[in-house]
Amino acid sequence: MYKINTNFQKLPGSYLFSTIAAKVSAFAEANPQADIIRLGIGDVTQPIAPAIIEAMHCAVDEMADAATFRGYAPDLGYDFLRNAIAEQDYQKRGCDISADEIFVSDGAKSDSGNIQELFSEDNRIAVCDPVYPVYIDSNVMAGRTGNYNEATGMFDGVTYMPCTAENGFVPEFPKEAPDLIYLCLPNNPTGTTLKKGQLQEWVDYARKNGAVIIYDAAYEAYISEDDVAHSIYECDGAKSCAIEIRSFSKNAGFTGVRLGFTVVPKELACGGVSLHAMWARRHGTKFNGAPYLIQRAGEAVYSPEGRRQVAEQVAYYMKNAATIYNGLKDAGYEVYGGINAPYIWLRTPDGMSSWEFFDYLLEKANIVGTPGCGFGPSGEGYFRLTAFGSHENSVRALERIKAL
Ligand SMILES: Cc1ncc(COP(=O)(O)O)c(C=O)c1O
Repeated sequence: MYKINTNFQKLPGSYLFSTIAAKVSAFAEANPQADIIRLGIGDVTQPIAPAIIEAMHCAVDEMADAATFRGYAPDLGYDFLRNAIAEQDYQKRGCDISADEIFVSDGAKSDSGNIQELFSEDNRIAVCDPVYPVYIDSNVMAGRTGNYNEATGMFDGVTYMPCTAENGFVPEFPKEAPDLIYLCLPNNPTGTTLKKGQLQEWVDYARKNGAVIIYDAAYEAYISEDDVAHSIYECDGAKSCAIEIRSFSKNAGFTGVRLGFTVVPKELACGGVSLHAMWARRHGTKFNGAPYLIQRAGEAVYSPEGRRQVAEQVAYYMKNAATIYNGLKDAGYEVYGGINAPYIWLRTPDGMSSWEFFDYLLEKANIVGTPGCGFGPSGEGYFRLTAFGSHENSVRALERIKAL
């Protein structure tokens, strides 16, 4: 008789975004005339930029010709893309990362969920609270946590690093050093970033305690302030203690076409065993390469025209972020984020819970956002709005909120 992986049963009920979708569809059914503005899910809305689409078209034509047809892609990624990433995302910023330290994938969700496979089951993880839920859930599935505690909203055996207005949304070093530290910067959902010096302190902490930092920089393109690091490898010593995960979803609108990458430096090793070699082995066994067409599209993100066009899209979303951030401030809300990230994080008014505010905003203003408690217990009493909608809708949403 087979047995299931009972770790899955530790995961509490319904996924945040399914609950939101169910609530919104029930509301829409009961109020068919309501003009609902969706500022909830972190999906982009702008079409893929022309230079990238053109590259995809060319790649499609190559596939139609026996002379240029491509079958299986190299599992670690095509050199043309790995070289472009190494040069433009790293070497240009002074980070000593080479193309063969870059592993191309189908996105940051897979990589951030899969990377834990490299580590022993008894490693202790530390996560910011609130944060993108994949880090915890993937470790729960792997059996690296205890049970979910309904009363605290936390899994036993996990180190939560609360990030609230009281500490400026900056995680504090855990007293008992964890083995794996997940940092998501700029942060989803709070929009927080760390100054370069603060990030260096995390690198120093990890090295001192023999920990690995798993650094998710999916929102790197939204950094607007000068003294914020774009990559953890801008910090001294990071190559011996950090893995960095990136995505093409938010900077170039690839949420539907899927592309990302992970950097595992060659000097990252545990007891003489190279994590780079382990990740290469894992990739070779479980992944057959991101599609050629999409890797060509990814390469075009780095062309002069592609870079200009994606920068325009990021600027468009950041204009929405400013509209939402400033509008909320004018309306008297306590607001965070929105400067180095496409997320605006606000404190719910009048002591409402996150879900109470969700219902209030949906019913009174027909706006959908995301309850902060869905990202961890310290998100209770907060709420996330995204800048990924249209500018027109961002303006209209704020007019409605101001009129409440
Ligand atoms: C922090 C973070 N990492 C990763 C992802 C997923 O990225 P991808 O679309 O590349 O899988 C998201 C998506 O919302 C995210 O917020």
